[in-house]
Amino acid sequence: MVTMIHSLTLSATELASDRLLLRKAQEIDREGFIELATDPEVRAYLGGPKPRGDVEWYIDAVGAAGLTSHPGSFVIADITTNRLVGTLALERRSADRPGHVIEDGEELELSYVLRRSAWGAGLAFEAATTVLRAAAEELPDQPVVVVTQTAHLRSLKLAARLGFRHVSTFEEFGAEQTLSTAGLHAFTT
Ligand SMILES: CC(C)(COP(=O)(O)OP(=O)(O)OC[C@H]1O[C@@H](n2cnc3c(N)ncnc32)[C@H](O)[C@@H]1OP(=O)(O)O)[C@@H](O)C(=O)NCCC(=O)NCCS
Repeated sequence: MVTMIHSLTLSATELASDRLLLRKAQEIDREGFIELATDPEVRAYLGGPKPRGDVEWYIDAVGAAGLTSHPGSFVIADITTNRLVGTLALERRSADRPGHVIEDGEELELSYVLRRSAWGAGLAFEAATTVLRAAAEELPDQPVVVVTQTAHLRSLKLAARLGFRHVSTFEEFGAEQTLSTAGLHAFTT
């Protein structure tokens, strides 16, 4: 049974909130994806900006559909304009990586990236709450983790506002990471 739980994330491919539409990637998202991957501020705690040419090559190789093909992976779009404001994923954290709250690993892991112009408006909070509520309705209760560089105060603030509590720190990608967790069913409405 535990193995079965581990293979799942939420099944929805589209979710709406007051200001946002969480959906799968479309051709119109190309520039948005390039900006997310190449903006030095957005990438400050994610290993730095990637060269634009590499990003374009990757998008051409996988196509728009390939960018969010995994279950639980979404574009965050403005619900009025359909313009990409960021991306969010609720996927499994591989047991091979450091940073876990259960022995077998493979916890649900929440991650989020917004365009610089979209920071400071509560949009990441709104997107995360929408996805976590939908997941809580569909999946058994289980821990969800957020892993963020300890130096990344904005991301730590968001995790805390969502109700995640700090449990440990560890090293990955040459930086100290903070692991926080919350029970999925805490997000049940
Ligand atoms: C991490 C990240 C998503 C946080 O974005 P954010 O906009 O600060 O997060 P929130 O959605 O929680 O918004 C909170 C801010 O919006 C403000 N806000 C404005 N209107 C709001 C509303 N209606 N509801 C809630 N907050 C609102 C809050 O006061 C807060 O402002 P503050 O930053 O001045 O304290 C963003 O900085 C980012 O994309 N960083 C780069 C990618 C990255 O490193 N991701 C982490 C990897 S896991």
